[in-house]
Amino acid sequence: METALDVRAMESMSVGFQKARIILTAAELGIFSKLVAGPKSAGDLCEAYGWDLRGLRILLDALAALELLKKSSESYSVEPRLYGALDPNSDESILPMLLHRARMWKSWSNLTSIVKGDFDMGSFVKMDRSRNDIEAFIGAMEVVGRKRAMRIAKDMNLEGRKNLLDIGGGSGVYSLALLELNPNLAATLFDLSLVIEITRERIARTKFAHRISYVEGDFNTDELPTGHDTVLLSAIIHINGRERNRSLFSKAHQALEPKGLLIIRDYVMDESRISPKDGAVFAVNMLVATREGNTYTFREIYEDLILAGFRNIKVIRVGDQMDQIITALK
Ligand SMILES: C[S@@+](CC[C@H](N)C(=O)[O-])C[C@H]1O[C@@H](n2cnc3c(N)ncnc32)[C@H](O)[C@@H]1O
Repeated sequence: METALDVRAMESMSVGFQKARIILTAAELGIFSKLVAGPKSAGDLCEAYGWDLRGLRILLDALAALELLKKSSESYSVEPRLYGALDPNSDESILPMLLHRARMWKSWSNLTSIVKGDFDMGSFVKMDRSRNDIEAFIGAMEVVGRKRAMRIAKDMNLEGRKNLLDIGGGSGVYSLALLELNPNLAATLFDLSLVIEITRERIARTKFAHRISYVEGDFNTDELPTGHDTVLLSAIIHINGRERNRSLFSKAHQALEPKGLLIIRDYVMDESRISPKDGAVFAVNMLVATREGNTYTFREIYEDLILAGFRNIKVIRVGDQMDQIITALK
């Protein structure tokens, strides 16, 4: 009985790609955005965008069968309960995340070749990312972060601390949560230049604009700005191999004043490396998207922090999402 169930569960996992692809293609074609604006038939859409009528009808019917769209006669609309999530102009929109996942689909397709060792990761990783790709990525970070940044930030005690350096700050969603919780804190976001350009525009529209400054750079090759009492590495260490992390920890150490606090948010794997389960799956995401990325155990992170000169290294938050926190002191 148990075996039958296990096989069924595995079969269901193995076919999950079909529904995922249907949703990702709808997002890539902008179908949700177009239908949020008002109901349309397959004919209307094909006439407006020159798409293939047979293909679109089949796709729209599948989306309706999955209860993501509503079909009434020949007209399709977005299910009302999904309006906020699928409206590109809503604060709740998950569209940037879907577009980011559509991009991830391409890298996941290389998994077999990567594991066989006959994939040229160099050319793939070096591939220039367009502004659209980066906007989708930043938007996705914000969608994922928005839900949990405030919850996680509440466990980061920054009492008395004044200037945070957020390395690879991305959309700034963690800095914003920390600024909200700590009225005397200012933050510096350090990230690649195109990311800073996009994030600066987004943050300019928020009430925190005057408390955030920006530094463009590459944390692998550039020095980090110094004189901070707190440094945050949120969802960064999984991008790197251990050697690069050691060098990044050393740069973070230099960026900190004496008694400065380093905060790491990431998956922290147990010694088996299969728990948390999502961390093991996320490591595959890093395998297909980076040259050296992975998820790390506490022992590995601890050893690398010690080598960089940190002390008093503690896990201050546990969890099975990317919501664990490690802190260390200079
Ligand atoms: C997974 S995102 C995390 C964003 C943010 N810290 C958060 O938790 O939402 C990784 C960030 O690191 C940045 N990044 C990656 N490699 C970098 C590098 N070499 N130098 C500077 N930033 C980098 C990316 O642009 C991206 O914004």
